[in-house]
Amino acid sequence: MGARPQLRKPYFFSLEDIDAVAAAVAAHAPGFTPRVGLILGSGLGAVAEAATDVVAEIPYTDIPDWPESTVWGHAGKLILGHWVGQPVMIMQGRAHYYEGYTMAQIGLPVRVMRRLGAEFFFVTNAAGGVNPEFNPGDLMLIRDHINFMGLAGHSPLRGPNLDAFGPRFPDMGRAYDRQLMALARAVAAEKGIVLREGVYVGVGGPQFETPADLRFLHTIGVDAVGMSTVPEVVTAVHSGMRVLGVSGISNRANLDGETITSHEEVLEAGRVMTPNLAALIEGVLARL
Ligand code: HPA
Repeated sequence: MGARPQLRKPYFFSLEDIDAVAAAVAAHAPGFTPRVGLILGSGLGAVAEAATDVVAEIPYTDIPDWPESTVWGHAGKLILGHWVGQPVMIMQGRAHYYEGYTMAQIGLPVRVMRRLGAEFFFVTNAAGGVNPEFNPGDLMLIRDHINFMGLAGHSPLRGPNLDAFGPRFPDMGRAYDRQLMALARAVAAEKGIVLREGVYVGVGGPQFETPADLRFLHTIGVDAVGMSTVPEVVTAVHSGMRVLGVSGISNRANLDGETITSHEEVLEAGRVMTPNLAALIEGVLARL
């Protein structure tokens, strides 16, 4: 194996830059066109084991400009293959803003998925349950999000607009696709999977929230809090992809200051949630 290909850290990738990354990925799987792009979050990478008929498995470190996962619990591999007959492009682990990447780097994999042909974007994450009715191990369908980082200007769409993907001012009124949500509900009911619903807030991290942070988030209507997902969803919606988002509730948010949240707890809950999450995604894929 040679040295790692280039890993630039720009605030903006041009269409040519993005297409060069897409070409590097496509070289591993000639003729493969993904229909669905899927990101598996913290502790949830094992969901990818369901992908049968793997066409290519590519470490992120072999792809030029592809941000690596530096966080324990993220395998850092791109899998191209078929799952219940659907051509899928699965990211086992993701990059987060708190790791030092630019927003453009976080949006890059989603734009590459789109350029390779993906129409659907399924995104998962581990999140803290702010809604007091949620328990660790629950899955939550993301109905909407609050873009804490984006409201302050940290957007993957910052810079010249790439018209090849979408408009300068993309609407976010229906960021999460209603038909996909209905499919997910139907699959959950059929398979007996408990599926909560709610609003996800994307915060910067890496520090977990203080009790006062969490009481504030609860007051403004948040059900689950995490450090990812929203920039990727914004990128996907801008490019016209249809989005399904699911949070795995890994811990109860510490609203009263009486508990301690740890990354170990998040990963352990991920292991518990993996079979249900895999069954849910598989059921939706089978109905696309
Ligand atoms: N807060 C923020 N991000 C998280 C949490 C949390 O409690 N759990 C998992 N990711």
